[in-house]
Amino acid sequence: MLELKNISCSYGRMPVVRDLTLKIEEGSTGLFGPNGAGKTTIINAILGLVSLKTGSISFRGIELNKLKTHERVHLGISVVPQERELFPLMTVYENLIVGGQNVPSAREHVEKTLEEVCEIFPILKERFEQKAGTMSGGQQRQLAVGRALMAKPKLLILDEPSLGLQPSIVHDLFTILKDMKKDVSIMVTEQNVRESLRAVDTGHIMENGEIIITGTADELSNNPEVEKAYMGL
Ligand SMILES: Nc1ncnc2c1ncn2[C@@H]1O[C@H](COP(=O)(O)OP(=O)(O)O)[C@@H](O)[C@H]1O
Ligand SMILES: [Mg+2]
Repeated sequence: MLELKNISCSYGRMPVVRDLTLKIEEGSTGLFGPNGAGKTTIINAILGLVSLKTGSISFRGIELNKLKTHERVHLGISVVPQERELFPLMTVYENLIVGGQNVPSAREHVEKTLEEVCEIFPILKERFEQKAGTMSGGQQRQLAVGRALMAKPKLLILDEPSLGLQPSIVHDLFTILKDMKKDVSIMVTEQNVRESLRAVDTGHIMENGEIIITGTADELSNNPEVEKAYMGL
């Protein structure tokens, strides 16, 4: 569904992603690696926020290189960024509605999508009138995911969704993501792979802008090298 072919990105002269090739199939995929590996840069390249020095990216057979960010979003790519990017002074309901307004094809389905999102995250419906900024970290993360889903994406990209959350909340979030992948394909980045491996079909491990190990979730969890370096043992 998403194909990155031999992409390289750099900030100034510093290469950050090096000749990286990555195929994201339908279902759910993890992109793992330590802080600074280049995960967020790849997401920004997918969105067109960082330019490619080499290579190309295509989504469902459409070449993205010449498309603007909003055109890529309209094709069905929705990103939940690392920094929660909610409107803290707006209510939960308003945040969700804004998410549904960004993409023309999602606009006419806003009411129905809102119901679906509230089924996935019941707490959001209970808190419709609450200001987003006054919710707990875990709830805000649910809202950020819910808002991204309001755009009815075909591919939902989550950049380190577990960051700053308590382990039990992280566990719940990945349980939800595991169930969600039936309806939308998911790509998730994480530093620690332990929880997220439960929720993905396939994973790729990055270091210094390159992919060094690829495998199914089972293969990765049984790989001693992965266990040592990325399970947080
Ligand atoms: N805007 C930027 N300007 C310069 N260097 C950056 C910028 N953003 C990230 N970097 C550098 O690029 C490398 C990869 O960063 P990033 O993609 O954010 O990694 P990750 O998301 O895996 O933690 C790091 O060395 C980081 O310091
Ligand atoms: Mg990052």
